[in-house]
Amino acid sequence: MIHPTIANPIDAPTQKGLNPPRARAPKLVQGVGFAFLRRKAMRHWIRRHGHIFEINVPFFGRSVIVSDPALVQLMCTTGAEHLVNVQPNIGNVLGPGSVFALDDRPHRDRRRLLSSPLHGQCLKGYEKMIEEETLRESANWPENSEFRILEPMNRIALNVILRTLFGAEEPEFEELREILPSFMKLASVMAFVPRPPFRTGRHSPWGKLGESRRAIDRILFALIDRAEADPTLGARRDILAVLLRSRYDDGTAIPRMDMSDELLTLIAAGHESSTGALSWLFERLRRHPEVLAELARECDAGGNAFRRATIAESLRVRTVLDVVGRRVRSSDFDLGGWRIPQGRTLLVRLADIHDNPEIYPHPERFDPNRFLGTKPAPQTWLPFGVGSRRCVGADFVSAEMDIVLRTVLQNFRIQTDAAPDEKVHFRGVTHTPKLGGLIVVNRRTQPAEGRPW
Ligand code: HEM
Repeated sequence: MIHPTIANPIDAPTQKGLNPPRARAPKLVQGVGFAFLRRKAMRHWIRRHGHIFEINVPFFGRSVIVSDPALVQLMCTTGAEHLVNVQPNIGNVLGPGSVFALDDRPHRDRRRLLSSPLHGQCLKGYEKMIEEETLRESANWPENSEFRILEPMNRIALNVILRTLFGAEEPEFEELREILPSFMKLASVMAFVPRPPFRTGRHSPWGKLGESRRAIDRILFALIDRAEADPTLGARRDILAVLLRSRYDDGTAIPRMDMSDELLTLIAAGHESSTGALSWLFERLRRHPEVLAELARECDAGGNAFRRATIAESLRVRTVLDVVGRRVRSSDFDLGGWRIPQGRTLLVRLADIHDNPEIYPHPERFDPNRFLGTKPAPQTWLPFGVGSRRCVGADFVSAEMDIVLRTVLQNFRIQTDAAPDEKVHFRGVTHTPKLGGLIVVNRRTQPAEGRPW
């Protein structure tokens, strides 16, 4: 049991060992609210019960919803002896060798291997490639005519993660680009649906996922084999080479089947959420001429502080992944005085922390100045999740978003108007703009100084 001291937790129980209040609506209504009307339902429950309460929903069962930052911080500092990854989780569709499917020491060890090529100095090496991909994709953007930014951003994010993982463009990428969109679409919907214990038909969703997965594995194993046979592997800096050279503390390498699951994990996690985040960024800019003007001015002057603040604010105001989950492993886990029984699901509603007016005044406003000259607070700015499972690609994608936006600003003027905000489309895991982030651009006639394009 942990007995934390919380500075000022919202909704703290008056006595130890209280169960969180339960939503009273019938289970079906709770399920529909959680699955299809999540934002509205959550606001209703928060108004009624506060920032911790219990609902009962399909797949996760009885689940405690938490959006109190102090309680979330407690969860962050809680070890795997009390909290493990939520079940079911996305490892369901990515395979048992995916970091999402691991807990305890195997999880810690795998994260250590994955983190090194996605941080620090390594990020510098990806800058030119991200700029190249953005230029290649935007070369044929139409002028003065509205188009969806989501698909171009999806292609940029996919190409960037493929090149980061495997180094140079490989012949197999073309086939991956064909298979992945339909795999991702189905995998997103099935991510949290428990696998049935019996064999399912070829035409069932599981059958179709299995077929795509076999095709993806064939390609990934071909890439792994080629890399292993490469005499220059020792000097290569791509993530596959780094992972193939890595060893756990006991000297063993990542098993071959896990390697395929993990590569697919990095491809999937590495482009699906980034697509949503980049699309929202442009959706917001179209509606905020003053922000766009400041970004363009700063970009021409060679700065980046306002751009970074804008990206942080976009990730806050349009939270791409709104929930992260854990399962209680220990008996009667004490979360700041609330008693959470063993086996219960804990769901942290990141979006409701970002939406809390006590933390972010006028939370609906898109105002990058909130983050100008100050780093987002790790307790209340949570687009990348929390604690020991916080996104391993957070630094990578922050750099990617910065370079993509900078490259677009250098080459285009984005038209602004008073178009209504795009509604949110839930794709099963991530939230994207419903109309795909419609924008209108014009190519800049004066190329940015010193640039050939
Ligand atoms: C804007 C884009 C992204 C967002 C919003 C995002 C968000 C998240 C969130 C909320 C989690 C769950 C954290 C938790 O359970 O507490 C997560 C986990 C993860 N993300 Fe990301 N992510 C993004 C991009 C990326 C990229 C580019 C990569 C890889 C290059 C990546 C790889 C991962 C992995 C491997 C995990 C699992 C970590 C674990 O279980 O230990 N993500 N991400």
